[in-house]
Amino acid sequence: STIPVIAIDGPTASGKGTVAQRAAQALGFHYLDSGSLYRLVALVALNQEILLDDEPRLTAVAATLDVRFEGEHILLSGSDVAHAIRHERVGMAASKLSVLGGVRQALLQRQRDFCQLPGLVADGRDMGSVVFPDAGLKIFLTASAEIRAERRHKQLINKGNGANLTDVLRDIMDRDARDSSRAVAPLKHHSDSMLLDTSHLTIDDAVAFVVRAYRSSE
Ligand code: C5P
Repeated sequence: STIPVIAIDGPTASGKGTVAQRAAQALGFHYLDSGSLYRLVALVALNQEILLDDEPRLTAVAATLDVRFEGEHILLSGSDVAHAIRHERVGMAASKLSVLGGVRQALLQRQRDFCQLPGLVADGRDMGSVVFPDAGLKIFLTASAEIRAERRHKQLINKGNGANLTDVLRDIMDRDARDSSRAVAPLKHHSDSMLLDTSHLTIDDAVAFVVRAYRSSE
């Protein structure tokens, strides 16, 4: 396709969401937060008490999600769940159900539909490997688990949610292990993507890196 795509993959709490969103803004591109789709399926699963390994039901949920993205708002069957899907509980559930091939398959076309002119910045775990394998620029954005835990911990405290750094680090390491070891579309640094370690970078530095890398790939 001739529509430019920047695929940004990486582990949880690496800052890839913020970096991808800001890079999209800087370039005037569309933005896909693919994790939000897995979180939406997880939210429905938790609300409807569907077991997180019930592949047929979860695949049906994924295939029939009634969702609209409107700026900051995420409307699920008409109600705004943008905040609700950010809870740790929902992220953990998303991580569990995202191992299911049926769910991943059901979300594939929905993700590809975001690819529209003038371009797309997509963030997730398998943007470069599965969803947009022809992306002109692929970046694996990461940071050490300790630094990611500190950033996530700070975020939770700022939002007024109590959090304990040790628990946050443990959750992050659990999530990394699950995302990296699953059979379908595991999280990993593929050789065709650039490595961007943000452990010692500011968000602005990371955004500037992505925008420069894109301009020199054009
Ligand atoms: O990125 P975020 O933390 O919002 O994603 C929530 C979970 O959804 C991740 O832990 C991961 O298991 C899953 N996910 C995925 N593939 C993607 C995006 C997210 O498996 N492209």
